[in-house]
Amino acid sequence: MSTLLTLAGSCRRSSRTETTQLLSLPTWKSRALCPVSLQQPEPDFFAAALYAAHSADKQPLAKADRATPAPTRTEILRIFICPLLRPIAMSSKWQASDIPPLTNKRVLITGANSGIGYHTALKLARKGAHILLACRNRERGEAALARLHTDSPGIQAELIVLDLASRKSIHNAAATVLSQHQPLHLLINNAAVFAPPTRQETSDGFELQFGTNVLGHFALTALLFPALQQAANDSAARPRIVTIASIAHKRAQINFGDLHSSQSYSPMRAYQQSKLANLLFTFELDRRLRATNSPIMSVAAHPGVAHTNLFQSGNYSAFEKTLRSLFGHAIGIVLNSDSEGALPTLYAATAPNAKDGGYYGPQGFQEMRGHEVGPAFIAPQAADVAAAARLWQVSEQHTDLKFL
Ligand SMILES: NC(=O)c1ccc[n+]([C@@H]2O[C@H](COP(=O)([O-])OP(=O)(O)OC[C@H]3O[C@@H](n4cnc5c(N)ncnc54)[C@H](OP(=O)(O)O)[C@@H]3O)[C@@H](O)[C@H]2O)c1
Repeated sequence: MSTLLTLAGSCRRSSRTETTQLLSLPTWKSRALCPVSLQQPEPDFFAAALYAAHSADKQPLAKADRATPAPTRTEILRIFICPLLRPIAMSSKWQASDIPPLTNKRVLITGANSGIGYHTALKLARKGAHILLACRNRERGEAALARLHTDSPGIQAELIVLDLASRKSIHNAAATVLSQHQPLHLLINNAAVFAPPTRQETSDGFELQFGTNVLGHFALTALLFPALQQAANDSAARPRIVTIASIAHKRAQINFGDLHSSQSYSPMRAYQQSKLANLLFTFELDRRLRATNSPIMSVAAHPGVAHTNLFQSGNYSAFEKTLRSLFGHAIGIVLNSDSEGALPTLYAATAPNAKDGGYYGPQGFQEMRGHEVGPAFIAPQAADVAAAARLWQVSEQHTDLKFL
């Protein structure tokens, strides 16, 4: 058994280098994770079979066959056993190392100074992307930029100050990006506020979670759309807009009668509503893009449950902060770390297999954990086309912005 596992490991290792280096093929999960020769098995298979047959008969090899060096015992074993192990190799997990090269690609990530946003930035930067770290606080943004350069020297990144809870800040940030006259290949709507215990408002008077998580990203996407279109015109690769939702959407409803929780506020209900709205936005955006034959993709992802600052940022007492911190560490051990939580985002942003209007997340227990990324469960209320169209209209009215 140990030999089988070693062989399986050897198949998987060799595939990643051989397929990319020799054939420049992407090594996504769906590909058989065996050496190139085994993806096109006939020649090697028959050569090995011939050799085995000749050896068994103790017949001398024909002259023409002697010109090619005979396969070694290990090669023969690999050739015969790898196809049998292919189902195991096929279930191999998609990893950050599977991200294709992103040289000359520009990516803007909201809330990139911590958690999933930071790790998304790091992994994409390592593949050569130029990262625009969109952060609400300049100091935290600069600290994240410094950390990025320490974690991976030589990467390209810059800070864009963006507070999604302020219409003025969103317009300023978008103007800064557009003034660079550069295409934007990837927009990752990642930032979020999670369940403040008391109702708060953005500077424009929206309930904080609906205003930041939903309307802020709607406005940013609308304003940056020309740069995404420029990327679509400049390159064959399709630009993507990735929006981060949550399993919390499963219990949510959109309360169109009280979107801003003015009549009654529940921290979790407002968060759940905002994450359902993120999904409705993704799917409505996808429908509108496809209706106009746009090459731009709209895709959603969720991290399961991951150890980030999400559950800790807020005005909590020292005691509650300690409890929340302990809880966060437990999540990191039992469920996902922040780096693991970034995998579905990275998949939605870069995997060739990700689909228009797709929604991706971890495949483990209750979609909360796991290192394998795949299609996520979409609750019926997230597939409500009429609600999505209505929410789009409401977002246009709230932001005074129209696109598509
Ligand atoms: N962690 C999980 O278990 C989990 C589960 C499901 C979904 N998610 C989703 O994953 C995404 C990333 O969250 P995370 O877990 O990585 O949490 P995080 O570490 O707290 O990151 C959230 C980011 O959003 C930023 N942000 C908050 N308000 C903002 C505003 N007004 N303008 C701009 N940026 C703002 C935060 O900035 P500051 O650092 O300045 O506060 C931070 O950088 C969110 O969409 C969240 O809903 C997370």
